[in-house]
Amino acid sequence: MIKNISIIGSGTMGNGIAHVFAQFNHHVNLIDVNQEALDNAVLTITKNLDRQVSKGALTGDQKHNALQNIKTFTSIKDGVKNADLVVEAATENIELKLKIFKDLDEFSPENCILASNTSSISITQIAAVTNRGDKVIGMHFMNPVPVMKLVEVIRGYQTSDETTETIMSLSESLEKIPVEVNDYPGFVANRILMPMINEAIYTLYEGVAGVHEIDTVMKLGMAHPMGPLQLADFIGLDVCLAILKVLNDGFGNPKYAPCPLLVNMVAAGKKGAKSGEGFYKYTAGSKELIVADKFKKS
Ligand SMILES: NC(=O)c1ccc[n+]([C@@H]2O[C@H](COP(=O)([O-])OP(=O)(O)OC[C@H]3O[C@@H](n4cnc5c(N)ncnc54)[C@H](O)[C@@H]3O)[C@@H](O)[C@H]2O)c1
Repeated sequence: MIKNISIIGSGTMGNGIAHVFAQFNHHVNLIDVNQEALDNAVLTITKNLDRQVSKGALTGDQKHNALQNIKTFTSIKDGVKNADLVVEAATENIELKLKIFKDLDEFSPENCILASNTSSISITQIAAVTNRGDKVIGMHFMNPVPVMKLVEVIRGYQTSDETTETIMSLSESLEKIPVEVNDYPGFVANRILMPMINEAIYTLYEGVAGVHEIDTVMKLGMAHPMGPLQLADFIGLDVCLAILKVLNDGFGNPKYAPCPLLVNMVAAGKKGAKSGEGFYKYTAGSKELIVADKFKKS
């Protein structure tokens, strides 16, 4: 039975994953190298649980229990020693993830399943640095984790049926909808999403239409909840660029080559909402979308 969950990384995704497991009565060890990130994660989880209570989705007692279920750690060794499952949600960097999985293999119990929330890095490659390839799997939650229903469950080359079945039914027990996919670059979600975002950026770059016009066509014409340029800003333009590079390298097909405008924006530090500017400008507290000066029509 999967009861004890350790989560590596307490950033955007790690805190959401911790929230959901704790809400469904798992014991959660949340681990980050950065104490400030851990403190912020607990604050964010508390705020998000409060929102659920105010909407009537949770009782005050359930909120209290969820918070009681979470412990924080700054050391992987201490945080994973009793884990039945580890979900790694650290920064998207291959060398970092390979190092973390070597440590997880060394310090977690022999039967513990090791999952990664990576958006694009090969599960097969991650599994290869461990001695338990059959127990390594992708568990790709979507942002914001407490709200989004999908879990993309990624089978690496060596992942066993037993590990896959355990993760599929665990995801269902969290009231998520898991979908099983195989381990090829971008899996399914980003293989389809990122070329659409890249094409939207090319459409802007080639002067076919402006930011507002492109997003409006896709929102109203395709019933997407937000346009692809706004979505790119929310995901982070640096993250979009990194995923496109994985697709481009992995398939060796120029159709995945990142648009030069995206490359330039990331080099200029315009990373989207988190940096205050991408295709739009983001001012604290404002819900209005303001197209960045560079893309304004004169
Ligand atoms: N942000 C998204 O929308 C999204 C969606 C799906 C998947 N992902 C994936 O989830 C993972 C995390 O993304 P994020 O957006 O939460 O990143 P983030 O930058 O918000 O958080 C990453 C956290 O990892 C911590 N960290 C770095 N090295 C560590 C180590 N050695 N041990 C423990 N903690 C460490 C950092 O201190 C930071 O708090 C990435 O693999 C990303 O591709 C992100």
